[in-house]
Amino acid sequence: MLKWIELENIRSYAREKIEFPLGTTLLSGDVGCGKSSVLLAIEFALFGIQRGEVSGTDLLRHGKKEGSVRLCFEVAKKEVIISRSLKRDSKGISQDSGLIQIDGIRQSKTASELRAIMLEMLGYPLEYQTKNPIVFRYTVYTPQDDMKRILFADAEERLSILRKIFQIDKYGRIRTNADIAIRELRAMKRESESLSSDLEQRISEADDKRRQLDSLGMDFRRHQAKAEELDRELARKTATFDGISEQIRTLSKKSQLAAIKESTIQQKRKRNHDIARESPELERKIYEIEKSLGERPLALTLSEIELTNKKRDSEKKRNELLSLQSLLTNEILRYNGILEKGVCSFCEQSVVDRVAFAQKLIEKEKLLSKVKTELSELSIELEQIERQRRELSEYSYKIRIYANSERELNEKRSRLKMFTEERMQNENEVADLVKELIELQTELSKLTELESQEHSAKNELSQIQLRKTEADRAFARVESQIESITRELGRLEKEIGEKQRLHDRAAKLAKSISWLEQAFVPLMQVIEQAVMSTVQQEFNQVFQSWFGILMGNESLSVEADDQFAPAIMQEGYQTEYQNLSGGEKTAVALAYRLALNKSINTLIDSIRTKDLIILDEPTDGFSSEQIDRIRDVLNELNLRQTILVSHEPKIDTFVEHVIRFQKEGHLSKVVR
Ligand SMILES: Nc1ncnc2c1ncn2[C@@H]1O[C@H](COP(=O)(O)OP(=O)(O)OP(=O)(O)O)[C@@H](O)[C@H]1O
Ligand SMILES: [Mg+2]
Repeated sequence: MLKWIELENIRSYAREKIEFPLGTTLLSGDVGCGKSSVLLAIEFALFGIQRGEVSGTDLLRHGKKEGSVRLCFEVAKKEVIISRSLKRDSKGISQDSGLIQIDGIRQSKTASELRAIMLEMLGYPLEYQTKNPIVFRYTVYTPQDDMKRILFADAEERLSILRKIFQIDKYGRIRTNADIAIRELRAMKRESESLSSDLEQRISEADDKRRQLDSLGMDFRRHQAKAEELDRELARKTATFDGISEQIRTLSKKSQLAAIKESTIQQKRKRNHDIARESPELERKIYEIEKSLGERPLALTLSEIELTNKKRDSEKKRNELLSLQSLLTNEILRYNGILEKGVCSFCEQSVVDRVAFAQKLIEKEKLLSKVKTELSELSIELEQIERQRRELSEYSYKIRIYANSERELNEKRSRLKMFTEERMQNENEVADLVKELIELQTELSKLTELESQEHSAKNELSQIQLRKTEADRAFARVESQIESITRELGRLEKEIGEKQRLHDRAAKLAKSISWLEQAFVPLMQVIEQAVMSTVQQEFNQVFQSWFGILMGNESLSVEADDQFAPAIMQEGYQTEYQNLSGGEKTAVALAYRLALNKSINTLIDSIRTKDLIILDEPTDGFSSEQIDRIRDVLNELNLRQTILVSHEPKIDTFVEHVIRFQKEGHLSKVVR
């Protein structure tokens, strides 16, 4: 819904703002006063310069370097103000970047960004980004001179445009894409088929491998049983061999024992021989000692100690007596001197009583003589003691000699006795040993036999071991064969799985291809035809109805053929457009234009300009009667906003609002 437009240096305008009310509005004014310029400016504001359709030269006011358009409108409940500007330089006129303000938010955008935003906001197909947005021209605004151009357009071009607008061309695209897909699927199918072509061969190879494995499995079990049997035999033989070896070891120990016994016997015999040799000599010595020994010397009554004590006492007494003797001798001498001198030479006392003194002397002499007697007795006693000591010493010597001989005798006797005993014992032991040795030798006689048994057991054992090694080798060979065939089988199975998958894929692809070729593509054709015919029928109906409203008589009728080309029938005869009157031509063109508007708006949901139509001079060449019918057209359209350009004064009365334009001195203005 348009609200207002501001023009600056656009065609005949210097600066002007035009407001658009809701309902039907007529832009009225004389020829060349600037009505169409406003409509061109609206289209420029929305989509910018369009190659071959809207050029800068068409818009920028002669002699001006810059011009601009600001358009305010409402779409999807949003108020949008879009501004675009034009610039003239040495190369020509070009469009600048512009501004867009949506609900008060302003953004600067390039010309092509603005167009993309517009297409999006107006719900037009985005493919018009680089092309003329034909939907706008077919539904909202067709420039004054282009109305009839649609009718004469190349039939094929028009059909292709309409197919695009009605979105029927998508079925063609679907078919083309389906063909591409079919080609791709065929290539994939061929690839899958070629990759899985040897699937059967691989399956039979895998079966062969399985059979080989079965037979090898039997071999495996046979070899296993044989190996187990040989293991058992080996264990048995080893036990036998070990048993024999053990016996031989035991016997070897016994043989050592026999050798020891033999040597012991020899030692003992030699010993008895030595004893037999030594015994007579010993007996002779015993006899000699017995003969020379004689009687045992008689023992003395006094002991060495008694004699020593006695000698010591006697010598002590003699010493005492000798001292007394000396003392007495001296006293006697002194007494005799005193007696002679009559005076004591020491104390110089004179002898008073000579008789008493002489008496004393006599007594002393008596005592001296007694001492002397005793001394001589003691000497005799000491001599006797000395004699006794000599006797004692002699006895000691004799008794030592005797004891020695006696000890030697005893020794020899006991040695002889030991000899006898030892000989006896040796003889007994030798007898025992000989007995044992005989037993051992009986046992040892088996050793040779055992050794030969051990030898043959060893031979057997090594033969079994040889057989076992061979069996193990054969077993390992089978095992490795099984392993390698299992590996090959695994690889084959994987390959078969892969090829089976490819085979299945080829089958699935064949199904898809056949579905696409036999069902999908024909279905698309049927749908396309059905949609096309529906669209065409609806369009035709609307076209005929508008034409009826505009012409009011039945002598002339129109029809759109399946190429959307208008065919005109005049009283049953088809006639050419060129042969029609000016008013009839305008009626055909307007009816076609209105039919396009209706059909496209009905078929394409996304379009958001359904409540706006702009018609520039739709009544050119109309009779007064036909002009009256414009009222019916407006009523029939019943849109929120209809903008009509006409210089037919009658139309003023059909519309709700009139905007008048006038031009003064090359400057257009709205008459307020
Ligand atoms: N680039 C331009 N600079 C100045 N004036 C121009 C330019 N291009 C066209 N004009 C003039 O602007 C005037 C307005 O043209 P416009 O097409 O808007 O007239 P109109 O009101 O639609 O007339 P009609 O009723 O004949 O269709 C015309 O006189 C035209 O010659
Ligand atoms: Mg005009």
